[in-house]
Amino acid sequence: MIKVLAVASEVFPLVKTGGLADVVGALPKALLPHGVETRVLVPAYPPILAALGPAEPIYRYNDVFGGPAALIAGKVGDLDLIALDAPHLFNRNGNPYLAPGGADWPDNWQRFAALSYVAGEFGSGLIGEFVPDIVHAHDWQSALVAAYLHVAPEPKAKTVLTIHNLAFQGVFPTPVFAELRLPPSLCALDGVEYYGAVGYLKAGLQFADAITTVSPSYAEEICTPAGGMGLDGLLRSRRAVLSGIVNGIDTDVWDPAVDKDLAAPFTAAKLARRADNKRAIEKRFGLETGDGILFSVISRLTWQKGMDLLADAIDALVASGARLAVLGSGDAVLEGALSAAALRHPGRVGFVAGYDEKLAHLLQGGADAILIPSRFEPCGLTQFHGLHYGCVPVVSRVGGLADTIIDANDAALAAGVATGLQFSLADAGGFAHAVTRAQHLFADPKAWSAMQKSGMKSDVSWSRSAARYADIYRRLLARI
Ligand code: ADP
Ligand code: GLC
Repeated sequence: MIKVLAVASEVFPLVKTGGLADVVGALPKALLPHGVETRVLVPAYPPILAALGPAEPIYRYNDVFGGPAALIAGKVGDLDLIALDAPHLFNRNGNPYLAPGGADWPDNWQRFAALSYVAGEFGSGLIGEFVPDIVHAHDWQSALVAAYLHVAPEPKAKTVLTIHNLAFQGVFPTPVFAELRLPPSLCALDGVEYYGAVGYLKAGLQFADAITTVSPSYAEEICTPAGGMGLDGLLRSRRAVLSGIVNGIDTDVWDPAVDKDLAAPFTAAKLARRADNKRAIEKRFGLETGDGILFSVISRLTWQKGMDLLADAIDALVASGARLAVLGSGDAVLEGALSAAALRHPGRVGFVAGYDEKLAHLLQGGADAILIPSRFEPCGLTQFHGLHYGCVPVVSRVGGLADTIIDANDAALAAGVATGLQFSLADAGGFAHAVTRAQHLFADPKAWSAMQKSGMKSDVSWSRSAARYADIYRRLLARI
C-alpha cells in the first residue's frame, strides 16, 4: 500500500465552497483499489470537529502559529480524517476563507501556513501515528507544504501539488515571510518570493515533486501568458512534471436511480420519469408548467463562470421561448442582475439565490440542459452531474469543459456519440447560437434522447483518473 496524506482546506460533505471539496472527499475511496491508502488533513472548523465527535488527540502542539493545537483523527463515512484543531485559527463558523463581512480573514496567511507546516511534519515522519510516502497538497491553502518538505532532512515524503484554480494564489506581504519558520534563503526568486510579495501557490509550484491540474486542456492553458495568471513562466519551466488529470464524480452521491433529492428517481431506460422532476423544479422556481425546453444553471456567481454573459443572454433566451432556472450565490451585482431578470420574466425565469445541494440534484434530474458559459474552467463538475443525469451540458470550449463534453457536431451526431454542445466565447454570438442549436436538437426528441443516453453512458466516475494519480505516486516512489 502507498500511504498518502491529502491536505486541503475543504472536504465534502463537511465543508464545501466548490468542487475542491468534492474532489478531496471522493478521491480517497477511488484510490483504494489502486493500492493507495489516504488520510485527509483538514483544518478543524466547527463542523469537522462535530462530525469527528469527542476523541483523544493523536498529537499535541504547544504553539502552532500563535496558539496551542492538537491533531484529532477519526472516520467520517468512508473518509479517514485528521483535523488540525487550532482554535485560534479555525474555530470560526461560516465560510472557511471569509469573515462575516465577506472580506478574507486577515490571518489567512497564518491559518494556511499552519496547515501546511503540520502537513510537513507528517511528511517528515515526525507524527508517528501516520507516516505518509506522499503528501498531496490541493491549491494554495496547502501548497506551502512543498517548501517545508523541500528544506526538511531525509527521509521525507514526496510531494504532489494539484492546482484546482490558478486564480487563487495565496499572495501575502513580504513581512509575513519572517513568521513562516522557513530558512531566509527561501525568500528568493527561486523560493517563495513572488512579485515582491510571498506566494504560497508559487512556492508549491517551485518545490513540488509533481504538479497536476484537473484537465489536460487547463494544463496547457496555464502554461500560456493568457491563462497563466502570472505563473505561466514558472509552470513552463516545470512542464516536465506537470500533468492534467480530469476529475470524476462520486457516483454513490450522484446516482439518479436512487437519488433521494429527486421527486422521481430514474434510469436511462426510464427517461420519461424526468418529467416529474421538471414539474418539481417549475414549482420551486415559480415557473410556468410546460414541456418546452428548460435550461438550468448551478454555479458560483462569478466572472470566471461567465455569469454576466448569462445575465446578458436571458432576454433573448426567453424571447426564443425557452425557460431558465438558476441556482447560484456569490457576487452581489450578479445576484442583482439575475433577480432583476426573474422579475422581468415572471414564469419564464426563476432564480434561487443561495447554496442548496439538494436543489442542485433536482435541477440536474429535471432540467433539459445545463448552461456553463465559463471564461475559464480548470475542470468543472456540474457538466459531469449533467451527463450522468440526462441534463445535456451546453459549455464553453475551455479547460475541462472542452475535454469532457463531445459537441453535437455533424460527425458526432452521425456516429451517435454527442453528449452536449460546445461554443467559443471568442465568438460574440457563440453562446446565443449554442442555445439555439440546443433548442433545434430538443425539437427532435429522438436526437435529444440519444444525446441524453450517450451522456448517461459516459464514464464520469473517478476510476480512470484515480489510476492516473496512483501512477504518479508510484513513479515518484520509483515503484514502477
Ligand atoms: P467550482 O469549484 O469552480 O465552483 P465545480 O463545477 O468544480 O466549480 O464545482 C462546483 C460544485 O459546487 C458542484 O458540486 C456544484 O454542484 C456545486 N454548486 C455550485 N453552486 C452551487 C449552488 N448554488 N448550490 C448547490 N451546489 C452548488
Ligand atoms: C476549482 C475549479 C473547477 C474544478 C474544481 C475541482 O474550483 O474552478 O473547475 O472542477 O476546482 O477540481
